[in-house]
Parts: sequence; structure tokens; C-alpha cells
Amino acid sequence: MTSLSGGGNAAHPDRIDTSRPHPARMYDYFLGGKDNYEVDQRAAEQFMKAAPEVREGVLANRHFMHRAVRHVVAEGGVRQILDVGTGLPTEPNVHQVARSLAPETRVAYVDNDPIVAAHSRVLSDDPDTTVVLADLRDPRAILDHPQVRAVIDFDRPVALMLVAVVHFVADAEDPAGVVATLRDALPVGSYLVLSHATGDVHEDRREGAAAVYDNASASLHLRPHAAVRDLFGDFTMVEPGLVRVTDWRPEEERRPDAPPIGIYGGVARKDA
Ligand SMILES: C[S@@+](CC[C@H](N)C(=O)[O-])C[C@H]1O[C@@H](n2cnc3c(N)ncnc32)[C@H](O)[C@@H]1O
Repeated sequence: MTSLSGGGNAAHPDRIDTSRPHPARMYDYFLGGKDNYEVDQRAAEQFMKAAPEVREGVLANRHFMHRAVRHVVAEGGVRQILDVGTGLPTEPNVHQVARSLAPETRVAYVDNDPIVAAHSRVLSDDPDTTVVLADLRDPRAILDHPQVRAVIDFDRPVALMLVAVVHFVADAEDPAGVVATLRDALPVGSYLVLSHATGDVHEDRREGAAAVYDNASASLHLRPHAAVRDLFGDFTMVEPGLVRVTDWRPEEERRPDAPPIGIYGGVARKDA
């Protein structure tokens, strides 16, 4: 695992900090969005020098997420989604993808970045969607949050989405324990949709890429396949298992010269 230092706006967790790059705003820049500051743009450009395929990677990750949402709604029959580490609103958002198949789907969005909450308030003018400022590293606070409880009924199947977020949790913060706490709260028939950056694919430059997050509000922790697979616990992996996001039930062929993407993705079901 590659693990690098970071921090947070601990004194004022609800204030937008423009003094250093934030993962949500860097991700928005990679996706071509406008909700980012110069400090994020500089860090994102630096990351792209170390990992030139990053834009293609974040798009591939978004497309994996869309396919996974369609799977859990259409084939899994799930009508409730808990999306932790949701990022800035990027169309189509999870609720839009889900509701294109099942309009009654309820979605709770959670992120620990105040800018995400600020933007996402725009989304939450319907009672079946909520946006909560909370931290993945405190999973009980998410599960017990009254806004989450108002939208998600934990007695009925839930799709828990942890898409491109667990790699912002350091080993010392116990990512396996955090994800297990969330998995344990879900009833049978629920799903875990998870993607995670890895250094397995581009071993030669993993230090350089992850080091860009050194000064960011959260550091990047690349993990190998086995460690990411463990995050699914005893849930049953949906075919094809944990693979590069581009290989998870692809709907389009990739260009032959497309770069390999260093992000694993998988979907798993709670059967017992
Ligand atoms: C790379 S973006 C992924 C966005 C979206 N899930 C996607 O895949 O398109 C990661 C998001 O996780 C959020 N995040 C990072 N650490 C977090 C934590 N400890 N708790 C909650 N959210 C976190 C960031 O603020 C950011 O919005």
C-alpha cells in the first residue's frame, strides 16, 4: 500500500478551505467541472503529469458506477441507495441513473467535504433524496444520522456505494473495520458497490502520483487487489468479481490503444 500524509480543516469542518487541494474539487477538475479552485487545478495538473491517464480513469470510474447502479436497481431490485463519498454533483448523478429505471428510488448522499454539501443542497428539494455532511471514518455517525434514517430503511435492501472513496482512508484509520461496520448494518439482499485506486497497474509511478495528495485535505492510499477484495467481506461477488473498472460488465469496446486504468471495481450481494 502507498500511504501518504494529509489532514483536514479540523477546527472548522463545515468551512470551505481554499488553502489546499481537496479530492472532491480535484476530481471535479478531472471531470471537466467548474467547482474547483486554483489550488485544486494546480494539484490536478501535477497529478496528470505523473498519471496522464487520470481523466480517462475518472470517466471510467463514473461509467462503472452508472453500470453498477443500473445492475443493483434493475437486477437486484434495490430501491434505496446510500452513496458515501459522493463528490460534487456530476450529471447523471446516482439518483438520476437509478430513477431512470425505478422512479421511486431513494438516495442518501454523504460526503465529508463542505463544498459537496453546499452544492448538493440544490439536489435535495425532494423528500426521497438527502445530502449529509458526515465522515466515512465514523460509520456509526452515518448509520445513526437522522437525515440518513429519514430516507433509508435499514430493514429493506440497500445499495451501499463506496466509489473511489476508501482510498482516502489510511490503514491506521482501519478501512476494513469501517467498511465492515457499514456492511453489517445492511439486511440480506443488500449490495456493496465499491471502487478503489490501486498501484498494481502502474507500479513504476505509484509513489509520484499518490504524493500529489501529500498536501491535500485527504491523502491517497493505493491498495493491491487482495486488500480491496477483502473490503467486500463475506458478501457474494457479482460476476466478473473485482476487476479493473473498465472490465466490469463493459458495454462498449475500448480503443486498442486505451491506457490501462489503475482502479478496481466490484459489486457484491449480501446473501446471508
Ligand atoms: C474521487 S471522489 C469520488 C466521487 C464519486 N463517488 C465518484 O466516484 O464519482 C471522492 C469523494 O470522497 C470524498 N471523501 C474523501 N474522504 C472522505 C471521508 N473520509 N468521508 C466522506 N467522504 C470522503 C471526497 O470529498 C470526494 O467527494
